[in-house]
Amino acid sequence: MLAPGIPAVDAFPGQIWARLSAEVWRGGAPSLLGYGDPAGYRPLRQAIAAYLGAMRGIACTAEQVIVTSGSQQAISLAAQLLADAGDAAWVEDPAYVAGRNALSVAGLRTVPVPVDMEGLDVAAGEASAAHARLALVTPSHQYPLGAVMSLRRRFALLAWAERANAWVIEDDYDGEFRYSGRPLQPLAALDAGQERVIYVGTFSKVLAPGLRLGYVVLPGRLVGAFTAGRALADRQSPGPDQAILAEFIARGYLARHIRAMRVLYRARRDALADAVARHADGLLDMALPECGLHALGLFSDSSVMDTEIYGRALRLGLQTPPLSAYYSPGHPRSGLLLGFASTPEEQIAPAVRRLVTLFRRD
Ligand SMILES: Cc1ncc(COP(=O)(O)O)c(C=O)c1O
Repeated sequence: MLAPGIPAVDAFPGQIWARLSAEVWRGGAPSLLGYGDPAGYRPLRQAIAAYLGAMRGIACTAEQVIVTSGSQQAISLAAQLLADAGDAAWVEDPAYVAGRNALSVAGLRTVPVPVDMEGLDVAAGEASAAHARLALVTPSHQYPLGAVMSLRRRFALLAWAERANAWVIEDDYDGEFRYSGRPLQPLAALDAGQERVIYVGTFSKVLAPGLRLGYVVLPGRLVGAFTAGRALADRQSPGPDQAILAEFIARGYLARHIRAMRVLYRARRDALADAVARHADGLLDMALPECGLHALGLFSDSSVMDTEIYGRALRLGLQTPPLSAYYSPGHPRSGLLLGFASTPEEQIAPAVRRLVTLFRRD
């Protein structure tokens, strides 16, 4: 219950997926069952390029798109291929832990850069490590704080990358889910020449994380290296799954599913806000998120340890991770991440009531 970052798998379009799957398997195309192009199944790469043009304003060709096993593989490949061990890499503070760890495992020296309500503080990054090799950012919806990077900061980040001859990895993991206001253009769309930005997307939030399908959009000169890197890592993504997804996107089912999920998630978000206002008043401060799949519940009493509450929450079936776990050592803020997308609306208030029992000291 209340797990952040998990979409409504209860609303997964299983019937449509099964029908498309039957079509793909009946077709039995040998090209899907043998070794395929490590860069991905061509019709899927085309469908992703068209989808990004229509939904995210990113003009790219199918050749620039490489299919990956989720964002995680895209971030790992970027870290391995674009930097050398010991190079500095900016990471947001607080950060998406799996992304930060992918950089560390590749031998990079991660430099925490503070995040405020405008997103990553580029000036602070330059003050700590002006010559970093790359920056890993979540501009559409900072994970975990939820800030949307301002246009001013987006341009400042791109200008730094140009000056420092650095790369920017844009992790746009849930940019499709915005409930009010207009989205800002992704860095990949603002970087006119597409020379500095490695755009990472995933089907984990718009469909389901278990599919393990994501993609990276690259400047043309990096495509060969990433294709070779992918082949070396695990050859390719499964052919039949890529073909099913290609049909799912090309026939308009993905756009329809996202529209339906936006309505569902807005209702679940409102149910969470209502439940927190009713049952956790004076314990948790929660601002209504304008986008994404989770909210932030900050503790009104700063002496309460979020790690301790989390340990006890888990025993009640509540997966509400502690905010402090995302910070670099020494700078934590206390609170909980409250996911709303994957919890059915009628179960949200009972879950919040259970959570509140953990704050009582009697
Ligand atoms: C910031 C961020 N990026 C990416 C992902 C998705 O990772 P993957 O595509 O590997 O499932 C998540 C999921 O929790 C996330 O929170």
